[in-house]
Amino acid sequence: MKEQDWTNLAFGYMKTDYNVRIYYRNGEWGETEVCSEETIPMHMAATCLHYGQEAFEGLKAFRGKDLRVRVFRLEENALRLQSTCRGILMPELSTERFREAVLKAVKLNERFIPPYESGASLYIRPLLVGTGAQVGVHPAREYLFITFVTPVGPYYKGGFSANSYAIIREYDRSAPLGTGVYKVGGNYAASLRASKKAHDLGYASEFYLDAKEKKYIDECGAANFFGIKDNTYITPLSASILPSITNKSLMQLAQDMGMKVERRPVPKEELQTFEEAGACGTAAVISPIERIDDLEKGTSYVIAKDGKPGPVCTKLYNMLRAIQYGDEPDKHGWVTIVN
Ligand code: PLP
Ligand code: COI
Repeated sequence: MKEQDWTNLAFGYMKTDYNVRIYYRNGEWGETEVCSEETIPMHMAATCLHYGQEAFEGLKAFRGKDLRVRVFRLEENALRLQSTCRGILMPELSTERFREAVLKAVKLNERFIPPYESGASLYIRPLLVGTGAQVGVHPAREYLFITFVTPVGPYYKGGFSANSYAIIREYDRSAPLGTGVYKVGGNYAASLRASKKAHDLGYASEFYLDAKEKKYIDECGAANFFGIKDNTYITPLSASILPSITNKSLMQLAQDMGMKVERRPVPKEELQTFEEAGACGTAAVISPIERIDDLEKGTSYVIAKDGKPGPVCTKLYNMLRAIQYGDEPDKHGWVTIVN
């Protein structure tokens, strides 16, 4: 491999050495296979291609100062994938098999795990697709689970710095009784127009209100929302957002720091009352929010008045990263040590 500049990595795909595959045929999951191909031979009538029978996950591995490699909350990702499988009628992969595949993919590609000092990490992308042929709208009988990895830098330009978001009302990402709580590709296809519009206008990402009433905050692009005020961490309770594992972790860390935690519907007018706010997710980590513009209404909610990350966001960010890189003790058992 040519000399890699780990500190300037973008959030993108880089070819690595191996991926790990498990096929589901005749009603059962087969052996765990190691593969060096980047492509998947597939039947042209596969259900993932026509009817969106596709799910994915996203988690990260971090190389510590002690050179050990840690994967963050992999059981939670296994459980969320199982929930997604129930949501779109795919066979569930056990947490054990998920763990084995993830750890194998990380170990086999160890040379791609960025060094501690770079602040970069190894993004792990498990993927489950319906490969069996169907022309009528039915679940497939055959599936393929793949885990690949790719080294990544920050999702938003500038890493941990305040960003602005645009409320876009004309497109919904998901419906309250739809698939928004599952990590299926269709939700991301549905988000592309809103995301393009926000990016074209110079925003970090689109910001969603609830699809039914457009009264409450849902989430920020591919990240959950949280607001901070009166020593309280407030995050939306909604039937159409992805249950973020980063958000779940931050709720725990906020509580550990002596803050109150509220998970409830958050009316959009409440935005003007927050002392700080952030977008959080595996890729985004924490991206502090500077301003949210409601494009159609022509209103602006300015949160970080000085345009800088606030003290609570900074403390949460530092603590989360410190646990992930092994600089702080893993009190909650979130980390799996790979080597
Ligand atoms: N919301 C959406 C729509 C996402 O795609 C993601 C990314 O996974 C998140 C929230 C954050 O979830 P997590 O913290 O589990 O990565
Ligand atoms: C993640 O945070 O893991 C995501 O899935 C974000 C995005 C790249 C889809």
